Amino acid sequence: MFQINENYLKLPGSYLFSTIGKKVREYSAANPDKELIRLGIGDVTLPLAPAVISALHDAVDEMGNAATFKGYAPDLGYEFLRQAIADNDYKARGANIETDEIFISDGAKSDSGNIGDIFGPDNKVAVCDPVYPVYIDANAMSGRTGDYIESLGKWSKVIYMPCTEATNFAPELPKETPDMIYLCFPNNPTGSTITKDELQKWVDYALKVGAVIIYDAAYEAYISEEDVPHTIYECKGATACAIELRSFSKNAGFTGTRLGFTVVPKELKCNGVSLNSLWARRHGTKFNGAPYIVQKAGAAVYTEEGKKQTKEQVAYYMNNARVIYDGLKSAGYTVSGGVNAPYIWLKTPGMMTSWEFFDYLLDKANVVGTPGSGFGPSGEGYFRLTAFGSYENTVKAMERIKKL
Ligand SMILES: Cc1ncc(COP(=O)(O)O)c(C=O)c1O
Repeated sequence: MFQINENYLKLPGSYLFSTIGKKVREYSAANPDKELIRLGIGDVTLPLAPAVISALHDAVDEMGNAATFKGYAPDLGYEFLRQAIADNDYKARGANIETDEIFISDGAKSDSGNIGDIFGPDNKVAVCDPVYPVYIDANAMSGRTGDYIESLGKWSKVIYMPCTEATNFAPELPKETPDMIYLCFPNNPTGSTITKDELQKWVDYALKVGAVIIYDAAYEAYISEEDVPHTIYECKGATACAIELRSFSKNAGFTGTRLGFTVVPKELKCNGVSLNSLWARRHGTKFNGAPYIVQKAGAAVYTEEGKKQTKEQVAYYMNNARVIYDGLKSAGYTVSGGVNAPYIWLKTPGMMTSWEFFDYLLDKANVVGTPGSGFGPSGEGYFRLTAFGSYENTVKAMERIKKL
């Protein structure tokens, strides 16, 4: 009789957004006349930029011509895209990342879920609390998290680093020593960031204790403040202790187009074994490349036109973020985030739990957000709104919330 991976049986309940979807469907079915505004899921709404569309069309034409047709992509991704990334995302920021340290993928969710493949099952994992749930669930599937303790909403072997009002929604160095540290800045869900000096402390700590940092910079394009690092490789020593995950989803609207990349520096080693070689092996074995047409579209993001157009999209969302931030503040809410990230993190009023506030907002304002407790125990009493809606809907949502 075959056996299953029993770690899957330890996973609690359904995925946060499935629960939200179910509640919203039930509410809509019971109230068909109500017009809902969705500021819950972090999915973009603007169409792809013209430079990207044009590159897609050209690439489709190439695929329709025997002379320019492309089959399987090179294992790491096309050189034209990796070179554009190395130049624009790294060299331009003073970070020396070579093209053979960049692995093109279909997005940061896959990479953040899969990166655990190259690490031992007994590594101790540290995560921020609240956290993007993929880091924990993927480690739970690999048996690295121990057992789920329902009453605490925590896994027995995971080191949780609370990110609360008291810590300015940033993690503090953990008391127990981790082997793998997941950091995400600008942060989903809190919208918080840390300065380059603060990130340097994490790099120094990781080097000191022999930990690896898995740094998720999916929201890098939303950084507006000077002293916030765009890549962990701006910090000294980071190439010896950090892997960076990046995505085209939020900077260029590729959530449905699918493209991302992971940087594994050659200097990053464990007892002399190169993690770059391990990830290359894993990537080559289990992944057959992002589509050529999508990689061409990704390269278009780095052209002058592409940069300008995608910057405008980010500015559009960040204007929404300001509308939400200011609107909530003027309505008396305690608010953070929204300055270097498309997420606004608010304290639920009147001691409501996150889910109570979800129901209240759905029912009274017909606005859908995300309960903070869905991201971890320290998210209880908080709520996330996203800036990814249309400007008109964002303004309307704020008008409704102000009237409550
Ligand atoms: C922190 C974080 N990392 C990764 C992802 C996934 O990005 P992608 O669309 O590239 O899979 C998201 C998506 O919301 C995210 O919030």
